[in-house]
Amino acid sequence: MTAVGIDAIEIWTGNLKLDLPGTFAPEKGEDPEKYTKGLGLNASSFPDSYEDIVTMGANAAHRLMERKGLEPDDIGRIDVATESSFDNSKPVSTYVAGCLEQVYDGDFHHANKGERKFACIAGTQSLDDAYNWIRAGRHRGRSALVIATDTALYARGDAGEATQGAGAVAMLISEDPDLVELSTEQGYGSADETDFLKPNQQFPSVDGKRSVQVYLARMREALEDYESVAGDVHPDDLAYIPFHTPFPGMVRKAGLLGYRHITRETSLEDDLADEIGRQPREEAFDDEDAFRDALREYMDALKGTDQYREWYAETIEPTLSLSREVGNWYTGSVHLARVSALKTALEADRELTGETLLVGSYGSGAQAEIHAETVKSGWKDEIAALNIDEQLEDRYDMSWADYEEVHDVHNHEMDVDVEEFTTPEAEFVFDGWGRMGERKYRYVE
Ligand code: CAA
Repeated sequence: MTAVGIDAIEIWTGNLKLDLPGTFAPEKGEDPEKYTKGLGLNASSFPDSYEDIVTMGANAAHRLMERKGLEPDDIGRIDVATESSFDNSKPVSTYVAGCLEQVYDGDFHHANKGERKFACIAGTQSLDDAYNWIRAGRHRGRSALVIATDTALYARGDAGEATQGAGAVAMLISEDPDLVELSTEQGYGSADETDFLKPNQQFPSVDGKRSVQVYLARMREALEDYESVAGDVHPDDLAYIPFHTPFPGMVRKAGLLGYRHITRETSLEDDLADEIGRQPREEAFDDEDAFRDALREYMDALKGTDQYREWYAETIEPTLSLSREVGNWYTGSVHLARVSALKTALEADRELTGETLLVGSYGSGAQAEIHAETVKSGWKDEIAALNIDEQLEDRYDMSWADYEEVHDVHNHEMDVDVEEFTTPEAEFVFDGWGRMGERKYRYVE
């Protein structure tokens, strides 16, 4: 069977930056360490007034097409995953195609376009759609463009305001990919949950504490489902585990739970037994509360062991480096985590070809998905071509007054007119409204 997977990735960050410990925490009267240590965040990326999900998505896609030397005819499908859409009928992918057609001679008239919605997991679901389309043999030798783009903003004063972000990840899905091959095996954990939603509003309604619990419950369910088809997962078989990262502190919790699960009944559990005992088994307890208490105690002890800390530092920590600087990108977030891991490996001169990533995606509402990816031999060139460090460095660092001014520009219900803070260069920008309420875009040289 021919390999199908991600051939190339490009990233586009919002052009503004909000310094969380330096600018946000003091205004909120909070300890900066709540951000750096607790949530694990240094900054959020933020969209300037001329940026939105279309500009960021089109800019990421444009970089990707340029770098891979692609023309519109090479693309048979464009799917945009977002939870920040502004139209219930016309998909964002049509706007993105319209932008790209401004800068290419050809067009995307024979590409299938769509928009995927299931909170943050929609980006991964779009990868699935592309994978299935290629596997079904309907692609006529062409590739699919998957774009995960979001302005992940919360209402002022909401607890989620600490975890905002904005950016896009564009991915090219092809046969014989250069970056990673996707596994056929997948696991799902899906249930009707009310943890985070946007009932026809741009800034979400969130039950933050509950959302954390739902994330963990669905992720665990997905892992069990994955193991039921792929066999038991063992820590030694995995180079990295990129998780959906609303903020790194969430992944700290997921990593601990995951490690407990995948070491159960292995020699790694035995190695820890002298120090912290064996994992509590439900059948050994008469009541649920006593079992839960024992589990909590075991987890507290586990996170302090050298064995766990070393595993976390090698397998999970490298997936968080970009997220710490940009915050939550919703649909793009797990795909940034994958890039962070590969970028760390490249910088450490680690050879990864043939190694396995286990990817844990999550969308509120709620669904988790787990699949594996095999790193392909072109990964170094692909990751070395990214300019994300320069993009992060070039962001305009907002003052508190700037932030207060620009925040509500990105609430679709409000008409806020704010001068831009940065000067766009070689990128698509929002260019006002058309007669039917459509958005207009233009490319700035
Ligand atoms: N030094 C060190 N650590 C500190 C600290 C300090 N001075 N002050 C606080 N902390 C720690 C806390 O102990 C806590 O860590 P633990 O959970 O490990 O104990 C962490 O910092 C956060 O502190 P709080 O819980 O007090 O923060 P909060 O009440 O402001 O809310 C939140 C946190 C609920 C996650 C909130 O930011 C939120 O609602 N976020 C949006 C929802 C979200 O991201 N949910 C994640 C799962 S849902 C999902 O993944 C989908 C999605 O993308 C939205």
